[in-house]
This record gives sequence, C-alpha cells and structure tokens, in this order.
Amino acid sequence: MRVAVVGSGGREHALRHVLGRTAQVVGPGDDADLYVIGPEQPLVDGEADRLRAAGKLVFGPGADGARLEGSKAYMKQVLADAGVPTARHGVFTDLEPAVRFLTSLPGLYVVKTDGLAAGKGVFVTESLDEAVEDVAAKLAGSAFGPAGRTVVIEEGLTGPELSLLAVCDGRRAMALAPARDYKRVGDGDAGPNTGGMGAYSPVADAGPDVVDEVMAKAVEPTLAALRSAGIDYRGVLYTGLMLTPEGPKVIEYNVRFGDPEAQVVLPRFAGDLAAFLAAAAAGDLRTEPTFTDQACVCVVLAVDGYPATPRVGDVVSGIDEAEALDGVLVFRAGVATDDRGRAVTAGGRVLDVCAVAPTLAEARARAYEAAALISFPGVHYRKDIAA
Ligand code: AMP
Ligand code: GLY
Repeated sequence: MRVAVVGSGGREHALRHVLGRTAQVVGPGDDADLYVIGPEQPLVDGEADRLRAAGKLVFGPGADGARLEGSKAYMKQVLADAGVPTARHGVFTDLEPAVRFLTSLPGLYVVKTDGLAAGKGVFVTESLDEAVEDVAAKLAGSAFGPAGRTVVIEEGLTGPELSLLAVCDGRRAMALAPARDYKRVGDGDAGPNTGGMGAYSPVADAGPDVVDEVMAKAVEPTLAALRSAGIDYRGVLYTGLMLTPEGPKVIEYNVRFGDPEAQVVLPRFAGDLAAFLAAAAAGDLRTEPTFTDQACVCVVLAVDGYPATPRVGDVVSGIDEAEALDGVLVFRAGVATDDRGRAVTAGGRVLDVCAVAPTLAEARARAYEAAALISFPGVHYRKDIAA
C-alpha cells in the first residue's frame, strides 16, 4: 500500500516512521492508496472533503466533524447533547455576562478561545482578577485575534490528565493505548501552556477499566451523536480527560492524533498501522489494535523563548549520536536544512526525542540520555517527563 501523510511536524514524522514498517510512504503530491491527515488546520479547512471528492481513501474527518476541534463552543454543545461528563461552562462574546458567569464559579477559572490557538489559548487561574483580564484581552482580539472573540469559560477541574486516542470508522471506535502529555512549559507544570512538551505511554493509572469507561461514556455516545447529525466521522477522536474524584471528565476533543502523544503511542503499535487506518478510512474497522508491552517516553526539545517568542535559525548538533542509542527515535518537529546542509531550528518545538524500552523507567532514562547529546543555543526541555 502507498500511504501519504499530510503535515510536517513531529507527529507526522512518527506516523511516517510507523506506517513505513508495513507500507510504502509517499509524498502528499503522489497518487497514494491512503491519505492520512496529521494536523487540525487542514481538517478544519476541509482537506479531507477535497480528497474524498477526488475519489481518495482518507483517514481524517471532514470539515463537519473537524468542527469539534475548530470550535470549543460547538464541542461543548455536542458533549451536552451526548450526555458526556464535562466541566460546567458558558460561551461569551461580551465582557459583562462573562464576568457575571466567572463570579458564579467556585474558584478555579478556565478561559479558552473558541477558535484554534495551537494549544495556547487556554488560561487557568485561581485569581478572579486575572481571569477577567484574560477574558477582556481575548474578547478585544488583542490576545488571539478572531479565535478569541468568542470565549468559553469553564469551571476548573482537578486530577491527573489523560489522552485517549480512538480510531473511528464512522460507526465503530477502537481505543489506542492511553498516553499522558505535559502541556505546561516548565517542570512541575509551571508556566504557560504549550503545544506539548513531552509524553509517555502506557499510563499506570489508566488501566482497561478507565479506557472502557471513557469509551462507553464519552467516545461512543459522541460518535453516535455525530452520526445522528449526519456526520460520518472517520479518523482519530482524541479525548483529553481529567481523572477527577467524580470520575473521568472530558476537557476537550481533538480530531487528529495528539502531538506528542502519537510519538509515544504509535511506536508501541503492534501490527499493520497502514491496514488499520485504511480499514477505518473505508468504514470497515473490524480488528482491535494491539500494543507491545514496551514503554515509550518522549521529551520535546524547544527553542529559547518558546512558547511566547521562539527564536529560530540556530544550528542543531548531536541528532545522529542520539539516534544511534538503542531504542531511540528522534522525530523532527521544527527543523530545516540550511544552505550548508546543516540542521537548523525552524519552529518552537524542534525535536521529539523518544525512547522505547521494556519499562517506563528505562525508556525515561534512555530518552534523557539521548536528549543530552543534542544541542543548540537556548535549548530547553522539561526534566520531569514520566518522572
Ligand atoms: P485544552 O486545549 O482545552 O485541552 O486545554 C489545555 C489544558 O488546559 C488542559 O490540558 C488542562 O491542563 C487545562 N484545562 C483545560 N480545561 C480545564 C478545566 N476545565 N479545568 C482545569 N484545567 C483545564
Ligand atoms: N498534546 C496535545 C495535543 O495534541 O493537542
């Protein structure tokens, strides 16, 4: 099978790597048997619809399904319609009612842009004043442009987070191995939200019982609700959850593989990923996926100033040395090649340094050993991934 992957980040590199075990990976311009769309933006923009209209087999929802990620207000409506446990929320375009709603919340405030903001549009605070300030900046368009002119305000939930990616064929959904990612930039979850600073899989506090509960209470009702709204959802439905004292609650849906969750889940996939995704794309998913007993840890190397003011264009060294270590995979997230053939930083998140090993502790040690071999000016990464 010839498979094309749309997108150029670390997630797409991981997809190409694992698809390449059993299929021939070709460029998106080539005529492929299967197209896998990596990032949310082309999905929201209808790239899957365009390819399907041209008769292609596509893994990824159409623009109708991708709205789940493209609009948080729409997502919350679908959650409510499907009866899925989630945080109490309100949707606002004006400051005054927004402030009134904030004042009614118990004390942990969450303010989100309605539209896409590369994982950075969410602000969580215990300070009412800060929350009001953030709402005002978003509504004014000064913080996130049009994406922030509508805000979703939520009560804050507490508990460990979990990412559960399910592969859907329009009717059926099958869970992949759970992962945990790290969204804040600093150790101990300090600092602002990012696109993701690391991840690991499997997750000890997310056994089969948790997965079954999330599938039964969130993923399956959501897929059914989409279906009854006429949406034939074929692709990944990524559930971002908080394991609260009252049980798992959905924080968000994404309509694609997580980044960097894909980098730790896919290397553990046992079997033919291309055939599995092709079956989902064809609406004919029959065989549950299986995963190896190995663990995978991913440490994201970011540039100086990320996420606020990333500085790019610096030479990167040590990638080959890192990749030579047993079990290590280095996925390119934001790297370019300069006119002298050298690797240079070209995005906030530069490299996803992943290691596969028999235990989580070994995978973690190996990933950090590999990360330490790579350098560029201002490189920073979290030291507590999978700690
Ligand atoms: P989202 O983009 O909606 O996944 O939000 C990004 C991050 O913000 C999540 O991974 C959580 O860490 C945090 N967050 C989002 N919603 C809530 C909430 N209702 N309560 C507490 N934290 C939240
Ligand atoms: N790792 C978070 C995301 O992919 O949205």
